[in-house]
Order: sequence, then C-alpha cells, then structure tokens
Amino acid sequence: VSSYVSVAAARDVRPGHARSVQVGDVCLLLCNVDGAVYAVADLCTHDRGPLGEGRLRGAVIECPRHGARFDVRDGSVLAPPAIRALPTFATRVVDGHVEVVLPGEEPR
Ligand code: FES
Repeated sequence: VSSYVSVAAARDVRPGHARSVQVGDVCLLLCNVDGAVYAVADLCTHDRGPLGEGRLRGAVIECPRHGARFDVRDGSVLAPPAIRALPTFATRVVDGHVEVVLPGEEPR
C-alpha cells in the first residue's frame, strides 16, 4: 500500500525546470535538478509569492516577488527576506509519473 499519489507526467518536468501543479488544496512546485525531482510548496514563506514564476538555477529557486531563495532539495532558506523553510514533500518517479506524498497522507 502506497501513500504516494501521481501528480504529473515525468516528461513534463524537464531537467533544470520547475512546474507548478495543483493537487486538491495543495499547490506544489515540482523541480527537476539534474534528473532528480523534488517537490516543495509553491508558496513563498515570506509573503506567499508564486515560486513557480521564479527562476530555478541548479537546486535554487528564487521568489519573483522580493528575491528570497530556497534550496528545493530540503526547503532551506538561502537568502532573505524569507526566514522560514519551505515545506517539502517526499517524491519519487514511477513508470513515467511523478508521485508525491501529500500532507495528511504520510504513512502511519
Ligand atoms: S513573497 Fe517571496 S520573497 Fe517576498
């Protein structure tokens, strides 16, 4: 039994790119860093900026609103004005689909 849910086709998340996906109430940002896919909340912890409209460079996403930067691999803050880390979600790629563990769906 898996708590992963499919959220996108892997081919739609190309290396070096980030893609926003809405899954129920959750807006996720899928980021492909050198072939590995990571999922973070698509909502800047500073003032709810849309990170998916920002620029991904390597593993670093920059918020388009005030320039905060985060490491998408662990959500950590790399540059202000954000202070709080981004929520991250366990992610894997299976049979060409990106699968993510959503909040409230963690294995118990
Ligand atoms: S909303 Fe992202 S840096 Fe301000």
